[in-house]
Amino acid sequence: MTDIGSAARASSGTDTAYILRQVRLGSGLVLMFYVFTHLVNHAFGLWSLEVLEQVREVFVGFWRPLPATIVLYGALVLHVLAAMHAIISRESMMGTTWQERLQLALGLLTPYLISDHILGTRMVHELFGVNDSYYSVLLTLWVFKPSAALTQVAALLVIWAHGCIGLHLWLRFKESYRRHIAYWYGLALLVPVLSIAGFVAAGVDIVRLSTDPGWMRQTIGAINFPLQADIDWVLATMRDVGYGYICFVVFIFVARQARISVRKARRGVTVQYHDGREVMVAPGTSILDASRQSGIPHASVCGGRGRCSTCRVRIGDGLDALPPPSEAELKVLERVGAAPNVRLACQTRPTEKVEVTPLLAPRQVSVQDAGARAAYAQGQERDIVVLFADIRGFTQISEQRLPYDVVFILNRYFAEMGAAIEASGGRIDKFIGDGIMALFGVDDNLSDGARHAIAAAKAMADNLEKLNDSLENDLDEPLRIGIGLHGGPAIVGELGYRKTRGVTAVGDTVNTASRLEALTKDFAVQLVLSTEVATAAGLDLSSYPIEEVSIRGREESLPVHLVKDASGLPG
Ligand code: FES
Repeated sequence: MTDIGSAARASSGTDTAYILRQVRLGSGLVLMFYVFTHLVNHAFGLWSLEVLEQVREVFVGFWRPLPATIVLYGALVLHVLAAMHAIISRESMMGTTWQERLQLALGLLTPYLISDHILGTRMVHELFGVNDSYYSVLLTLWVFKPSAALTQVAALLVIWAHGCIGLHLWLRFKESYRRHIAYWYGLALLVPVLSIAGFVAAGVDIVRLSTDPGWMRQTIGAINFPLQADIDWVLATMRDVGYGYICFVVFIFVARQARISVRKARRGVTVQYHDGREVMVAPGTSILDASRQSGIPHASVCGGRGRCSTCRVRIGDGLDALPPPSEAELKVLERVGAAPNVRLACQTRPTEKVEVTPLLAPRQVSVQDAGARAAYAQGQERDIVVLFADIRGFTQISEQRLPYDVVFILNRYFAEMGAAIEASGGRIDKFIGDGIMALFGVDDNLSDGARHAIAAAKAMADNLEKLNDSLENDLDEPLRIGIGLHGGPAIVGELGYRKTRGVTAVGDTVNTASRLEALTKDFAVQLVLSTEVATAAGLDLSSYPIEEVSIRGREESLPVHLVKDASGLPG
């Protein structure tokens, strides 16, 4: 079996697809910042034409110097090239989300829509010395060629939406973004609304001013419009650039299809799934693309960008023949504590037959599943301590009361017990009727877990006493509880369905803890804990009697401490 760490060290560490994704992200951020400042500038049209123009001076002062120009236009070229590369190298659009498809469509439209704007402003300024102020642009768009104003509004919306979707797809894995998503949505809506409102308000002003011949003469003179021949050249160039871009996009899609056809013609590679299905793909196709091409549902929250880990698969036969993971893939695998035979399906491109088992069910996966979960979430054997508790004779108590009273008492009880468990470092696993199951040591170790569990039992006893005092008038007799504690290996993992999924534990340790809780009735004590827990906690509980008990399902008897009143425990 290949060791991922050594395999990665053996790898060159370069991952072209990863680098190109970073280039696309970095250049996209530069462009988005430019668009943001541009749209904010438009919004000042709501104030007045003069203020709009003054803010433009600041905008131009920031973006026109040579270094900023290189960064901006460099980002534009890199972004388009990296996006085209992504299109060519993508095997299939199956499995992509609607946001990704919309972002792609809007992105393809963007260069076509903005080329006229760039030629009509920056280029004519550089080539013919035209003063490309707002007066010049607004006169052209609102007075000389009003239909172009609509195209500009459409371009503004397309570019902004493309950028916002890109930002969302990038940030959705970050907790702070998800927490403040309402503010982000608000900003995404506010910016274009104010921008269009400013653009329209300024356009209305320009149309009104254009009825004054004196103002028109003076403004056109200040703009320094180019000669008719130059205007014709600019218009022809705009048309040629538009056609050229359409040809470029067609070429990209033809090239993509040609690449796929050539790869398919080569000797195929078999990807075999855990349920026996086999898919034949071209060598170098990722496992995720193999699933997509054959319509096999496969989780991929980040869309195959190698960031979310939800596409991960366990590799059976063929692991040794796989190319080693890149540094980027390795980082994600380490973050989720993946076993050595687990790989990201979107980053793994088999060249020989390989057997795979997707680890996350596609319909249950959400953004929250993406990478951030603890390593044990996907299943790990860990040494933990399990606590079970329930109320003695609660069935009789509930039979004599109204449902409202039962719920009230139970909720008070759960609040006190829950607080005791959490304050002691435990994790409430579930409430079952009047019972409680809690885990200790899941995030640390058995010894800490044992100490925390004993402290929790003591705190539960203390809190129960206070609860009984406060419910004195509601109860015929005080509530009594039984607590069972046992520690050892258990399978810890995230189990359940949709919203009910959560970290829990299964196995012999859990069953034994539950049996010990049941034994509190037989021994008429508040707590029964295995001596293993006391030893792991490093506590001397020799003052508490020891009994050998037999537990159903265990061959050997289990020594346990019997604790009449857990509030007297040390610690
Ligand atoms: S799809 Fe997100 S890491 Fe593979």
